[in-house]
Amino acid sequence: MCGIIGLVSKKEVSSTLLEGLKRLEYRGYDSSGIATISNEKIERVRSKGNLSFLEEKLLNSSLPGNIGIGHTRWATHGSPEEKNAHPHITDKVAVVHNGIIENNNQLRNQLIEAGVEFSSDTDTEVVCHIITSYLNTGLSAYDSIRATMSDVRGTYAFGVLILNEPNKLFAVRGGSPLAIGSANNENFIGSDTYSLSAYSDNITYLKDGDVAEIENDSYRIFDHSNSLVEREKQSIIESITLSEKGIFKHFMLKEIHEQPEVIAKSLSNYIDMDNGVLNIPNLPHDLSTITNVTLVACGSSYYAGLIARDWFEKFTNIKVDVEIASEFRYREAPMASNGLTIFISQSGETADTLAALKHCKYLGQKTISIVNVGDSSMCRNSDASLKIYAGPEIGVASTKAFTCQLGVLACLAIKIGTSNGSLSEYQEKEYVKSLLSVPRLISNTLDKEDEIKNLAHDLSNITTTLYLGRGQMYPVAMEGALKLKEISYVHAEGYPAGEMKHGPIALLEKDLPVFIMSPSNNLYEKTVSNLNEVIARDASVILFTDKEGLDNIGLLKNKIKAFVLDKSDIISAPFIYTIPNQLIAYYIALLKGTDVDQPRNLAKSVTVE
Ligand code: F6R
Repeated sequence: MCGIIGLVSKKEVSSTLLEGLKRLEYRGYDSSGIATISNEKIERVRSKGNLSFLEEKLLNSSLPGNIGIGHTRWATHGSPEEKNAHPHITDKVAVVHNGIIENNNQLRNQLIEAGVEFSSDTDTEVVCHIITSYLNTGLSAYDSIRATMSDVRGTYAFGVLILNEPNKLFAVRGGSPLAIGSANNENFIGSDTYSLSAYSDNITYLKDGDVAEIENDSYRIFDHSNSLVEREKQSIIESITLSEKGIFKHFMLKEIHEQPEVIAKSLSNYIDMDNGVLNIPNLPHDLSTITNVTLVACGSSYYAGLIARDWFEKFTNIKVDVEIASEFRYREAPMASNGLTIFISQSGETADTLAALKHCKYLGQKTISIVNVGDSSMCRNSDASLKIYAGPEIGVASTKAFTCQLGVLACLAIKIGTSNGSLSEYQEKEYVKSLLSVPRLISNTLDKEDEIKNLAHDLSNITTTLYLGRGQMYPVAMEGALKLKEISYVHAEGYPAGEMKHGPIALLEKDLPVFIMSPSNNLYEKTVSNLNEVIARDASVILFTDKEGLDNIGLLKNKIKAFVLDKSDIISAPFIYTIPNQLIAYYIALLKGTDVDQPRNLAKSVTVE
């Protein structure tokens, strides 16, 4: 999703802004640009496509100036072309924007009637012209920005340059995240902690309605009522080294390999290792009285919720619903009066999940968010939040955040189960023991990477595939299919194995690859029946199971490709069976030559609905 960077310094800023944009790349983008003020003029360079094109243009056209703003754009209004790339400018103003202006059409028509000529299809250009029109009436830069904020409706974060205030960078927040990072004699603005972490060791998040006036050595923040306010300075805890690729070719592969370590780290925050029991920080809710649990999320985070449903139901004896945020927020579903709603999100900024959170708070639900980005909007808006401690996830496709989410969800399910008396102390210890075995079991699975690589090699020409599973393996299958789709652009569908005969079986044909995930548990025999249905139609089965599972199918093993994983249980199975799916998707994408870390059209943090 769009990313903003800005800098006011005593030195030239364009090369630092370009570096800052590189740190925003992971969010997903289709064009980029930088504007500066120099010699009483606003200058800008923009480019469609990868940042390397912008870099090349900057080599040929120097962009002088000690103050500037930069942007990576993920198209919403207007196609991904250079003319729509930010910054948008007039002769007096330059603006970069993250978010959506909902009354864009109305404002644009008014401006056109007033004689304004537009050079892009974006909603951002509207903002640029409105600020300019207020400046033209004689208002100050600050007042022009404030007046513009009253005119626009929607979500936004703006970085603004005003020609007659050449030493001030303006930062505006109205629903989309924006923060200030300070260093020696220079101040930055950025969309997230990661973009600022290379330049400053503390950051200040703006609140909705804030306008900041930033100079190289100081800044002032004014809240929605124009009062000068102090906002908390937070230290940047995530180290930059964590975010470098190291020996790995892609962030995604690095993040897949980080899983044993980050899951262990994540669990250590919620488990008393010495005693093998949970140690979840006090939550502001009486967990023993909760009558309903609702899990709300998007994408992979939603699949984590579906997996966790089994844990919540089995450990707590409470009714559990799992909801896709974009559907849930508009459905006006009745909510139980003593219900707990849990929001799952890597970024903590996903617009639909955030809107669902606000809706649930309005309905009086108890709210907990499970997030990776600790200072995110979701974190700040819920009653309590549990961080997953995955560290910065740069690859657009979620891997380590997904498995860390699972770890924290399992802890919370056990905690509610013990609080309401559904689980005994003994059961708590057994489940915690199982959770603590997860990092080792994932390491064992990663040791089989070469086998998976070979499998991916054999499958590199596939154009469509099915992923099947039952119980928790069904959402694991959907997550596997999503990984393959998003990074290799191969069509894939995750389906409940038992449901296949009700329709998708029609797709089966000779050699169609069908991945089946099935540990040897109570659902194993049923899944084997479905496996037989697939073989009977000459499709090609790749079975992920354990040794017992393989032994149990006898001669059938000669008709399939089997991949043997460690013995698992209700806690560890979803973690273990997720790993091969991540690696398969990665290696198929690698063979296809797609952009693994920044797949086309995708954004890391989806801040529009
Ligand atoms: C898939 C993926 C997305 C996200 C989804 C929600 O690999 O990363 O499906 O899971 O966009 O994002 P968060 O978790 O940030 O709310």
